Amino acid sequence: MSYNLLKGKRGIIFGALDENSIAWKTAERVHEEGGKFVLTNAPIALRMGQIKELAEKTNSEVIPADATSIDDLENLVTKATEILGGKLDFVLHSIGMSVNVRKGNHYTSQNYDFTHKGWDISAVSFHKTMQVLYQKDAMNEWGSIIALTYMASQRVFPDYNDMADNKAYLESIARSFGYFFGRDKKVRVNTISQSPTPTTAGQGVKGFDGFISYADKMSPLGNATALDCANYTVAMFSDLTKRVTLQNLYNDGGFSNMGVSDAVMEAFVGKE
Ligand code: NAI
Repeated sequence: MSYNLLKGKRGIIFGALDENSIAWKTAERVHEEGGKFVLTNAPIALRMGQIKELAEKTNSEVIPADATSIDDLENLVTKATEILGGKLDFVLHSIGMSVNVRKGNHYTSQNYDFTHKGWDISAVSFHKTMQVLYQKDAMNEWGSIIALTYMASQRVFPDYNDMADNKAYLESIARSFGYFFGRDKKVRVNTISQSPTPTTAGQGVKGFDGFISYADKMSPLGNATALDCANYTVAMFSDLTKRVTLQNLYNDGGFSNMGVSDAVMEAFVGKE
């Protein structure tokens, strides 16, 4: 269903790797709602991914950018505003990667070069993106910037490893930069904290199957899907949420406010 919520709006969508990616679903939904955008991903991911298919489907261009490189980000923002014919109204940061997770290093046995790389990609890249947008004055007033995060930033999920720390850093950047972006440019900045979702990044987490079933059983509405996340992001890009900023917004079926559910208790005491 389309409501034309993003008619006339322009933006950049980071992080669509394949059709499971949250950014992929978001690009499809933004397109359906009338928004125009440039797609971007790291050069290596562009070679591996299927992004061309998405670009054709959504009439968009792809500009490679490693989100840790200021040069790449400056080129991206300049080209995006040229291609789209004006300043931007929305940006989705949908990027995450931990080298320690990839290499199977336990949280208590990190390689700090990997820690540094993962933190640069997963958190500092959000600061870099916003700094380039801010300094180039590339956002329209009442624009909206979103990054995706996970509950392990606030509570302990042992297998989430150093991504938990990266997400805490990301959420803090949203608040800190969001203040300046709001005060100086009237742009809102928020993070959406999403349920576990079966994507390439999600499935990299050890024990993901158990993790996703547990969250589903704990949440009164069940896990939010990638499409649910895309729809929430559309709402956050629309003019209907103009004064929502500096927030970490839960899109998790209620998980974040649960202690325990009947379904989880059953595993311990049996059905009554
Ligand atoms: P995904 O693997 O489809 O997307 C991650 C993206 O990050 C990929 O497109 C990858 O190419 C990109 N990326 C990695 N390094 C990059 C770099 N240097 N420059 C630019 N892009 C780079 O997985 P998913 O799940 O769609 O991830 C999107 C976001 O959602 C991430 O921030 C992730 O942490 C977050 N998230 C995911 C959850 C899940 O369970 N899948 C739950 C909550 C949040």
